[in-house]
Amino acid sequence: MSTDFIDELLARTDVVELIREYVPLTQKGGRFWACCPFHNEKTSSFSIDSGKQLWYCFGSCQEGGNAITFIKKIENVESGDAIRILAKKAGMEVPQNTNFNKSSGMSEEKKERLYTLMRLVAKFYHENLYSARGQKFKKYLSDRGISDSIIKRFGIGASLDGNSAIDFLIKQDFTLEELKEANQAQVSEKGAYDPFYDRLMIPIINQFGEVCAFGGRTLEKDPDFAKYRNSTNTPIFVKNKTVFGANLLQKLKKDKVAIDFVILCEGYMDVIALHSAGFNTATASMGTALSLNQAKQIRNFTNKVYISFDGDTAGQKNALAGLDVLAGAGLTVRVVQMPVGLDPDDVVKKYGADGYQKLLDKAITLPEFKIKKLLEKFNLEDLEGKAKFTAEAIAVIKRIENEIEQEEYFRRISSLTGYGIDVLRRQADKTVLAPLVVEERQANNIKEQNKSRIDKVYKAKAFILASLIAKKSFVDYTEDYDFILDDEFSKTVARFFIANNKDKKESVDGILYARVDDEQKVELDYLLNKYQFVDGDDATKYNDCIKSLKENVLQKRSKQLEFEYQRTKDISVLKEMREIQEEIRELK
Ligand code: UTP
Ligand code: MN
Repeated sequence: MSTDFIDELLARTDVVELIREYVPLTQKGGRFWACCPFHNEKTSSFSIDSGKQLWYCFGSCQEGGNAITFIKKIENVESGDAIRILAKKAGMEVPQNTNFNKSSGMSEEKKERLYTLMRLVAKFYHENLYSARGQKFKKYLSDRGISDSIIKRFGIGASLDGNSAIDFLIKQDFTLEELKEANQAQVSEKGAYDPFYDRLMIPIINQFGEVCAFGGRTLEKDPDFAKYRNSTNTPIFVKNKTVFGANLLQKLKKDKVAIDFVILCEGYMDVIALHSAGFNTATASMGTALSLNQAKQIRNFTNKVYISFDGDTAGQKNALAGLDVLAGAGLTVRVVQMPVGLDPDDVVKKYGADGYQKLLDKAITLPEFKIKKLLEKFNLEDLEGKAKFTAEAIAVIKRIENEIEQEEYFRRISSLTGYGIDVLRRQADKTVLAPLVVEERQANNIKEQNKSRIDKVYKAKAFILASLIAKKSFVDYTEDYDFILDDEFSKTVARFFIANNKDKKESVDGILYARVDDEQKVELDYLLNKYQFVDGDDATKYNDCIKSLKENVLQKRSKQLEFEYQRTKDISVLKEMREIQEEIRELK
């Protein structure tokens, strides 16, 4: 990787202007401030230093970095993709033979070729529509009311046969290997063929305007095979990280069109039909349950989403799963109540754009939708059904932040069930909420990891101190305990016992006991209790504990230095960091 290139890229990128594309900024005392785009907050704790070209969140994130780290985080991409995005903005070409994404195992140059391949084949498919053999597809589109300008806007095309797209790509100097990597060729005994053979081709274009995949629809009425065939995941396409229509949102944003809300549907055709009807922020989730990554992508454009999934049970189920993910990403969610059996495309056909607009106007909030679902699920005439309904409804209400809104729902549940509001409130106080959304789960995972690390360090400290208290023969008095013990209480205990154990033979616990405060007495009790259990054969354990405590302080120091280096670009800091990492390696 060329550091010159990165330096040049960072020099040409203004981090303030870059971040301004994502969040509104205010200037205060030489710094720029915003509400942090990475966590929910009402006061600005996200700050940019334009001189140093660095950002930092003083709020709950406590994270910071440069333009590249910002793009990585906000676009949810790896370093290589972040660099490509910035290079594109800066009008720079990514140098050949670079491999920023070590984990994905494909060089940037190779990925770039796949993007080119996809762009060219999309154009090829599109042109097919206007050929003689493409007329059945053209007619299909016009029968569905899709105009020429919409066909162009979405780049719709057709794959006419099993070989022409392949021949075309091979002529453009792509290898069969590359075609397979892009899922544009499959190989049978008869040779390579186009997997989208005889299908209407809908390009899936990512938020950066690059064709990364296709959805291919058969024209058969009741096909024995799948109605849609989609590109498999490829090095440039991950299905659940892609939002169909994101490129069109990006375009609106670039043209400074305010995006008050995004509509999220299920199907490609819904998005196309809604755009035809003038709803130019319609997107789709590609048929899978919504991921946090997709939710975050949407959040880059707006803070309000209308879920407009099909009015059948399967659709509703997907909608339910998606709602919590969207809400968890900090988006305001509204659920469009679709007539049973109709998708947005059908509604626009049947009732026109006005008809769909009316549905948008009547869209309901998340708790409303959930309670409605619960009413469908449980029979309130039945005592057990009523109890279950009430318990689940209370869990829904408990998640509402606004107290007035909560009150409103307590009233409703009370009148539905006949239970008094006080009883419902008391029950709510007793209700423990299960972790709900993906983001929460991820946060918990991190907490868990930290917890287990802290646990390990804590246990190691306790063992070391207990061994010191017990005057074990394997205690190494030359060790620098002040360095490896990272809190004042442990340091005090260690100093005390090292000093006293050397001189005196009698028990000195009482003296130390008098010196520590109440909270520390509990700790000390624990240690004094523990030292009785330190076994004479525990020398190995002792050494392991010393090692893990050393590693703990070195890791912490290394993290500090890493951040300091990002901030100052001071080479001596980098050098120190490398030395520390070397020490950690040696320890292991
Ligand atoms: P729909 O069947 O609702 O598709 O599936 P649609 O877009 O409304 O298509 P039309 O109106 O029948 O032409 C919703 C989405 O689920 C995925 C596609 O992403 C589709 O847009 N899907 C559906 C598949 O991937 N494969 C299938 O066979 C069916
Ligand atoms: Mn449809």
